[in-house]
Amino acid sequence: MFDQLVRYFDKVRDRKITSLFDQDKNRASEFSVLVEDLFFDFSKTNIDKVTLDLLKALVKSTKIFEARDAMFSGELINTSERRAVLHTALRNLDGSSVYVNEIDIMPSVLQTLEKVKVFSERLRSGQFSGQGGVITDVVNIGIGGSDLGPAMVVKALKPYHDGPNCHFISNVDGAHIHDVLSKLNPERTLVIIASKTFTTSETMKNAKTAYDWMSKVVNHPSFQFAAVSTAVEKTDEFGIPRGHVFGFEDWVGGRYSLWGPIGLSIIIALGAEAFHSFLNGAHEMDVHFKTAELEKNLPILLALIGVWHNQICNYSTRAVLPYDQRLNKLPAYLQQLEMESNGKSVDLDGRALNFHSGPIVWGEAGTNGQHAFFQLLHQGTRIIPCEFLVAAQSHEAYLNHHHKTLLSNCFAQSEALMQGRSFEEVCSMFKDEGLGHDEFEDQARHRVFPGNRPSTTLLYPKLTPKILGKIIALYEHRVFVEGKILGINSFDQWGVELGKELANDLETILSENSESKELNTSTQNLIKIAKTMW
Ligand code: F6P
Repeated sequence: MFDQLVRYFDKVRDRKITSLFDQDKNRASEFSVLVEDLFFDFSKTNIDKVTLDLLKALVKSTKIFEARDAMFSGELINTSERRAVLHTALRNLDGSSVYVNEIDIMPSVLQTLEKVKVFSERLRSGQFSGQGGVITDVVNIGIGGSDLGPAMVVKALKPYHDGPNCHFISNVDGAHIHDVLSKLNPERTLVIIASKTFTTSETMKNAKTAYDWMSKVVNHPSFQFAAVSTAVEKTDEFGIPRGHVFGFEDWVGGRYSLWGPIGLSIIIALGAEAFHSFLNGAHEMDVHFKTAELEKNLPILLALIGVWHNQICNYSTRAVLPYDQRLNKLPAYLQQLEMESNGKSVDLDGRALNFHSGPIVWGEAGTNGQHAFFQLLHQGTRIIPCEFLVAAQSHEAYLNHHHKTLLSNCFAQSEALMQGRSFEEVCSMFKDEGLGHDEFEDQARHRVFPGNRPSTTLLYPKLTPKILGKIIALYEHRVFVEGKILGINSFDQWGVELGKELANDLETILSENSESKELNTSTQNLIKIAKTMW
């Protein structure tokens, strides 16, 4: 099926996207979908009805609906770790049963959610206080999935933030923890250690440093600590009171975990009601994914467009461009979601892939990106499909004039990427400006925009908790469908292990001042030179 798509792409690769609009007056509405409050436009791509039919046949051939149902029903689809994949259960608020190994997990999911809610409400209301009084600051220590999701959501939903200040420490670089803790009062701070495994070395080191920081002033530091983990015995060893420990199960992957207790900092920031709407939004996307027909199924459509651009057209990167300053951490969040999930080189049976795995995802909030890398998007030699996201309304009604400028910029960029500006057009502009022929011949070539650069736009009314929940769940399911089309396991991440192992060995070498002949001479040399700089 890939071959047929590649052959078709070869036929149509040079045609203008604008010509598709000329041929089909209804293209804008035919190549877009409105699902309640999410409007997704993919008409500014080189996809036509034939492409779409081929892509649909491709996804059908993967038995996507059976795979989707297997995921939702708790089958052990993460085969290399022999685990179910049930982050969707964390937002299944109606509590309908979900079974893992014939045990209904929903009572325990709801019980944990209740425990998290009670704890966060006590903190928000001041009933739970630190040695110096009401908790004013909460510090989440975690990395990867135990940081990116909560940090991104807390930032995105700032207008709803009415709880204590939230800070995030992830990097083992001492500069990170120093810069955060040095501004805080330990007597009025709660530290959350968020780690699925409770073994991640960066998190454990930061947790210990935070504990030492707090112990200098606070008599019972453990009381001002909470933990979120699947490894309760390890949180016990750390000395965190059981009442402040929120467990979850191994059927929640790290990068899919913000919906459960890993979202503790989100609930503390926003309160239970807003968190509920966040979960509800995600649940609505789950229902949509489970019930919408293929043509209108947003996660499937996004996945098909992703595969078209990456595996078929060979555009290896994908730019995520939220025209929403508060979503400026979304690209980093999606980097983990997409690249940790679909950056694999073997299929489910361990056979080498004979096509590229998932895309390289990167991006930045608009309009900032326009003044940084958009030059390359418009005139560079590579084609980079762009994914725009934008809200129709802002939260700051009194600054509506800013929002109109933001929207204009967003819509202008996708238009410019597609339309471009030809040499002839530039010359005629110069003529209109009254420039002589000699002056503009040389200049004109630099002002040409090749155009024909594909983009999609996701438009939503306002960045509310519910809409953000939907958007994140949309991307999660898109990653699942793309992974399914590629035939890979989107739920393991063995590729991060080797570096971790070597870092441990190197830390011993660095701290014990020893040497290792097993290391490559470049690495040995780096160690030697670094030591001369100590
Ligand atoms: O870097 C790999 C990884 O395992 C991610 O998948 C995970 O989100 C992150 O480390 C943090 O892991 P943990 O929550 O166990 O500390």
